[in-house]
Amino acid sequence: MKNCVELIINWYKNNKRCLPWRDGCNPYYVWISEVMLQQTRIESVIPYYNRFIHKIPNIKALSLIDEDDLLKLWEGLGYYSRARNLKKAACIIMERFNGVFPSNYEDILSLPGIGEYTAGAIASICFSLKEVCIDGNVMRVFTRIMNYDWDISDKNNKKTVSLELKKILPENPGDFNQGIMELGETICLPNGIPKCKECPLKFYCLAFLNGNSSIIPRKIKAKSKIEEEYTIFLLKYKGRVAIRKRENGLLKNMWEFPNKQGFITYEQVLKEYPNNQFVELGITHTHIFSHKKWFMNSYYIELTNYIDSFVWVSLDEIDSIYALPGAFQPFFKYLKEKK
Ligand code: ADE
Ligand code: SF4
Repeated sequence: MKNCVELIINWYKNNKRCLPWRDGCNPYYVWISEVMLQQTRIESVIPYYNRFIHKIPNIKALSLIDEDDLLKLWEGLGYYSRARNLKKAACIIMERFNGVFPSNYEDILSLPGIGEYTAGAIASICFSLKEVCIDGNVMRVFTRIMNYDWDISDKNNKKTVSLELKKILPENPGDFNQGIMELGETICLPNGIPKCKECPLKFYCLAFLNGNSSIIPRKIKAKSKIEEEYTIFLLKYKGRVAIRKRENGLLKNMWEFPNKQGFITYEQVLKEYPNNQFVELGITHTHIFSHKKWFMNSYYIELTNYIDSFVWVSLDEIDSIYALPGAFQPFFKYLKEKK
């Protein structure tokens, strides 16, 4: 592994992608990008990142942003607690650190939404602190270099990698950390398809030298997700559709179309919404969250009266104002196409 450090840094210097948060090492930019990258791929993050920085250019602006506006900016990225934690952390930086992003690892780690990975990334990239940051890419690349037959999702193995990498971190830990991640994203690809021929580590990588690079890391069966069924009601009255705010639980404070748990029959829908002039079965959609799977059926219903308990909005207003989570987007698209 030690032999690879220099190779990774040199490869990174010559091959790093030009990404909007990479000019300079502004901790605010690196922080926002790393939080977005926690659960989302680089290509999808770039437009979100640019829009976010344009609307919220610094820590102070983030501490002052209205939560509804923030969720709207985050719409589609998922894992919305990340956005709420960003604002919380910005408020703490304003109060406790005089508005200056902390430059000490423990202080960075103390902020809401910043775990060891993100703290390590910010500390090493922005402040050249010798801290590791270990994501799935780093686990995969390390495991292949060492030809280990272990479970890369095991926390103890992550701890081992962290200790090993800490011993060999160079003077420019940010380049090393980003280099190994980027190698995992562009060359040492997951699911048994690494581009070993193009890899700077091919003469040192034990998985490659042993012909194992397509079977390491070992596949571990994913945990099964909780399955839930929902019926979504796409209610329309005078060109407006009904939405409501989720009060708690998953997707709290995001907007949704009215819905009920379980699949509901046509007859039950007519009973639920008797003041209708038109009802038809809408689209179905399956939405996969990290730990849940939603099977969603829908009915499109034209009503002859408003129902007070909902908020009635135009489709344009949903587009521009209301944060509608990904699970409901296919139904929104369906309504737009129906118009
Ligand atoms: N993936 C997540 N963060 C990254 C970074 N800073 N550089 C390269 N790949 C990354
Ligand atoms: Fe990954 Fe292949 Fe490079 Fe080894 S040689 S680090 S398996 S891309």
